[in-house]
Amino acid sequence: MPSVQVSNSKDGAVYTTSNGAPVAEPYAAQRIGTTGPLLLQDFHHLDLLAHFDRERIPERVVHAKGAGAHGYFELTHDLSDITSAKLFTEVGKKHRTTVRFSTVGGELGSADTARDPRGFAIKIRSEQGNLDWVFNNTPVFFIRDPAKFPHFIHTQKRDPQTHLKDADMFWDYLTQNPESAHQVTILFSDRGTPDGYHNMHGYSGHTFKLVKDDGSWVYTQIHLIADGGFKTLDGRTAGRLSGENPDYGIQALIESIEAKKYPSWTVYVQTMTAEQAENFRYNVLDLTKVWPHKDYPMRPIGKLVLNENVQNYFAEVEQIAFSPSHSIPYFEPSCDPVLQSRLFSYPDTHRHRLGVNYSQLPVNQPIVPVANFQRDGFMSINNQGARPNYQSSIVPLTFVKNKGSINGAPRDEERHVKHERWLAGAYWDLSEVSELEFEQPRALYTTVMNDVDRKHLVNNLVDHIRGVKSKEVLARTLSYWATVHQDISDRVAAGLCIPGGARPLPNVKPASAAVRFRTQHV
Ligand code: HEM
Repeated sequence: MPSVQVSNSKDGAVYTTSNGAPVAEPYAAQRIGTTGPLLLQDFHHLDLLAHFDRERIPERVVHAKGAGAHGYFELTHDLSDITSAKLFTEVGKKHRTTVRFSTVGGELGSADTARDPRGFAIKIRSEQGNLDWVFNNTPVFFIRDPAKFPHFIHTQKRDPQTHLKDADMFWDYLTQNPESAHQVTILFSDRGTPDGYHNMHGYSGHTFKLVKDDGSWVYTQIHLIADGGFKTLDGRTAGRLSGENPDYGIQALIESIEAKKYPSWTVYVQTMTAEQAENFRYNVLDLTKVWPHKDYPMRPIGKLVLNENVQNYFAEVEQIAFSPSHSIPYFEPSCDPVLQSRLFSYPDTHRHRLGVNYSQLPVNQPIVPVANFQRDGFMSINNQGARPNYQSSIVPLTFVKNKGSINGAPRDEERHVKHERWLAGAYWDLSEVSELEFEQPRALYTTVMNDVDRKHLVNNLVDHIRGVKSKEVLARTLSYWATVHQDISDRVAAGLCIPGGARPLPNVKPASAAVRFRTQHV
């Protein structure tokens, strides 16, 4: 494994101090006589305690609990008609890949079967750098304005005073931000409790861009469809497992790979041209909506296979650092505002969680040499040796392109085409809510779900909404569901033994009055 340093595990090595000196008595601290105090000279003991005292690093602020494994991404279909990215044009080539699955809201020790979206983060190591697909197991998300993210997440975390999770906070937030309805309908279906981490699909959610070197481009959404199907647990079973085996998902992944039942996914893209985006019923940059498959068909592109368990959880799963901004030429972000914010947030949190040189950790290292002018900082593992630490100032950059620079510094790669012209300008309040928000979750309830799914959705909602104490929040919650579908609201009310008939939320504009994204897609 080139980029992940596997420890010399289970090799029967001699026990040593951290400077490699053999230790004969690992269980003994040096002391004066049999009753005297300990000796400061006992480096082994000090080293042992001092390191133990520093074992913890900050856990991820979200997605703290997770499981990971290694495998590969293989391109099965050529995409050269829509992109010049090497990764998507070299059919048959396998790229070493690491995946980390996670729950979102709970702490590092929380239960794998909690009701939550699941993270599905993928690091594909290519010859043009690492491409991170930091996806979820749902095709949509709760927000479309990134300014809401910390507020929204705080409502899933513990109350600052009681340190308890709080159903009032949760429903109070959601019902005041009803663009969340699509994701919340999925969350309270059995898809909110997948059966293990690996029996689920993964989705980009966001719109990205695939670009060609002639400057042409298409919007794209990526789907990973589990070859074994999306398996779910009903709410009661998930609740029971949370107590009986909080690590159910980690265990199932390890055991599946050990038994050579390698989890695999077929990878698809949906694509949309700028013209299609202009005429799309929804805003193509609004990740609370899906692109209907009948209009934007799924095109298979590759396989993801996980066939190798990690050797060291901390080094290969806890220290892995994903970011949507870890990308490769010709695979670009769209201007979805949530995605744009994420481009900043992930490297920022990695510098806090893992340190400024997080990219040099073995699991994060690209397979290609890194050559730049980043130097020093805490724990620099690859400080780029004798290479100059500045670009020659004698010859302007434009003249040294591809020719090597005067001082032997890294040369610039030939510029790949980037999408850089932004016209337009529509700015508006992304919180503006119209009937458009409810069409897709309503269709999910009426046409995609069967009777059992609908029953489970209602049961799961009743179990959670039962915890709401405020009458106002409760009434608003029933209205929220009445806006999705009156039947859901009435059945939840019945389950809570309160009168039904809640009216839909006020201030929801008709679909025809929705302000849609009227920017020019360039
Ligand atoms: C993890 C921020 C939206 C998927 C994280 C982390 C942060 C974060 C700070 C912790 C990273 C770490 O410590 O390693 C945000 C912000 C968002 C946002 C600010 C919106 C404004 C999303 C969306 C998705 C997503 C829309 C999926 C489509 C993930 C995943 C992880 C993660 C999969 C876990 C990565 C891992 O396994 O290490 N997010 N997030 N996030 N986020 Fe987001």
